[in-house]
Amino acid sequence: MALFRGLFDFFLNDNKLDEKLGLTEKQKKLVQNTWAIVRKDEVSVGVALLLAFFKQYPESQKEFKSFKDVPLDELPKNKRFQAHCINIVTTLGKVIEQMHDPELMEASLINFTEKHKVRGQTPEQFENLKQVILGAFPSLFGKQYTSEVQEAWKKTLDLIFSRIYQVYTN
Ligand code: HEM
Repeated sequence: MALFRGLFDFFLNDNKLDEKLGLTEKQKKLVQNTWAIVRKDEVSVGVALLLAFFKQYPESQKEFKSFKDVPLDELPKNKRFQAHCINIVTTLGKVIEQMHDPELMEASLINFTEKHKVRGQTPEQFENLKQVILGAFPSLFGKQYTSEVQEAWKKTLDLIFSRIYQVYTN
């Protein structure tokens, strides 16, 4: 009976919808568990994401004074580039960790987006990066990228980036 009760609570809680985020508890867990893979190797993942971003959208590299003219094949060993790669990955990681506290999550998103807005980065550049991130997930997460995980990530990125775009319309 106790086991049955435990399982019942587990499923009940897993399917519970967080109305502020529009995600179930299970979807939050799926996102946080797969992000743990990224956390094991933040530099490599960040470098791969940013390189793909610059390859697809070369004008984005021009936003970075410290490495705007460095050839793509020399970027991976450039420390200023690596530092930004880590910035992106750790900041996204923090936002994902903060899903248990939607107001805190929102505050973090506003903080870094405002800095980008003031510096002149555009919502289109954020959208381009979002697509690059989504495109990288199948190879990054491999077998763990089930359709359920994919759905959870899509919802999470929609949520994060829609908050980013709101900063630009305010
Ligand atoms: C979710 C996506 C992103 C995250 C989490 C992120 C995070 C950060 C962080 C934490 C910093 C350092 C603090 C600051 O000065 O703002 C930074 C700097 C910067 N970011 Fe982003 N960023 C993102 C997307 C972008 C995009 C799309 C661009 C456009 C190309 C961009 C361009 C820059 C630039 C130019 C800097 C200043 C670099 C420097 O000279 O130090 N970022 N970013």
